[in-house]
Amino acid sequence: MIKQTLNIGLFGLGVVGKGLLDVLQNSNLPGIAVKKICVKTPGKPREVAPEKLTFNASDILDDPSINVVVETISGSEDAFHIVSRAMRKGKHVVTANKKMVADNFSQLLDLQDETGVSLLYESAACGGIPIVRTIEEHFGSEPMEQISGIFNGTSNFILSKMFRDRLDFAVALKQAQDLGFAELDPSSDVDGLDAKYKLILLTAHSHGVVASPETILHFGIRHLRTADIEFARQQGLKIKLLPVCKRTGTNKLALYVMPGLVGEKDGLYHVEDEFNGVQLNTAYSGRQFFSGRGAGGFPTGSALLSDLVSLQRGYRYPYQKHRLNGHTLLDEDIALRVYARAPRTILPEILPFDTMEYAEQSAGHHCIIGEIKLKNLRKQREYLHEQGVFIMRMPQDFEN
Ligand SMILES: NC(=O)c1ccc[n+]([C@@H]2O[C@H](COP(=O)([O-])OP(=O)(O)OC[C@H]3O[C@@H](n4cnc5c(N)ncnc54)[C@H](OP(=O)(O)O)[C@@H]3O)[C@@H](O)[C@H]2O)c1
Repeated sequence: MIKQTLNIGLFGLGVVGKGLLDVLQNSNLPGIAVKKICVKTPGKPREVAPEKLTFNASDILDDPSINVVVETISGSEDAFHIVSRAMRKGKHVVTANKKMVADNFSQLLDLQDETGVSLLYESAACGGIPIVRTIEEHFGSEPMEQISGIFNGTSNFILSKMFRDRLDFAVALKQAQDLGFAELDPSSDVDGLDAKYKLILLTAHSHGVVASPETILHFGIRHLRTADIEFARQQGLKIKLLPVCKRTGTNKLALYVMPGLVGEKDGLYHVEDEFNGVQLNTAYSGRQFFSGRGAGGFPTGSALLSDLVSLQRGYRYPYQKHRLNGHTLLDEDIALRVYARAPRTILPEILPFDTMEYAEQSAGHHCIIGEIKLKNLRKQREYLHEQGVFIMRMPQDFEN
């Protein structure tokens, strides 16, 4: 097979960009070279030859000898601008930016069709776990019932610290920030957004559905308190932040991100600290479980390298299920069995439970367990978030 020579223009030289350079240096692969690197801030010390650096995107985008753009910058809008310009110029793109892909998925699919170039993003969903191409290629013709997992290492690190070391949320978050696992603004990680973007990426391949972020409910772990941890501990369970994509009927799919209780028999129970786990429930092969490092320079660099080597062989995602999918709709009528704990009384008009099996009110909090429709939770999400209400899913067997 003739391998294409890749002349790379790299955008971003942070954790991920530097990770790719390190991996490429160690691998010393023929036919793959980084020609130019575009960054944002002049004057920062960098461990690369100054003649390779630029602050002007056009130095890469207008260079006809560069045939691949690797995009590893932090913002979504700038990234989409760079990626769409690169694709229109006939350059293949490899990106680590899950928000950029999730925010612009439909346009990026159209751009791939229009331009014929390839866009790959293995590193964007669970870093070092090889899951995008596994779902697309290995399970491309097999119906998928459900995907779930631990897609965000920062929140999992905080959950491990709270559960194992009995730290409260603020102390655990500070430790995550001090160790470089959490950003100064941790919202995307602790409020479930980062996990949602990854869920959107995987759902496009597993079920052929391209969902936009604003249509999907997300709750995170920001309002988790010791009382909730103790509730889980008393039942021998742990709390994990779980994105879920679940087939609920013919052409119906439920998508949401929410903390959930998991038991010891569940592989996710044992995924600790900054590690990620992905569970698939497929029609014929049954349950599959993957775990590994979801972030960091080397694991993410490994996934980028894998995309680049695939690109050398001419690989594009075929989007097998998306091409076949005619009319799958998001199902928000399903009832979820949840635990809700608020610092004050939860009024029935705020959280209209269909059924209630437990309620407890004390000076400090009001706790309810019951069934509520996904659409009612989504309607109230902003208000519940503002009011400091912690919501989590009660345990349900991962269905076989
Ligand atoms: N960190 C991880 O483990 C991880 C894992 C998977 C995916 N990702 C994703 O990968 C991307 C990068 O993450 P990161 O952790 O490497 O971020 P980071 O450490 O903050 O680095 C971001 C880099 O992007 C550059 N940059 C920002 N805006 C730019 C622009 N408009 N033009 C050119 N360069 C620009 C910055 O330049 P300066 O150096 O000049 O500031 C910096 O070098 C994000 O989308 C993230 O979600 C990260």
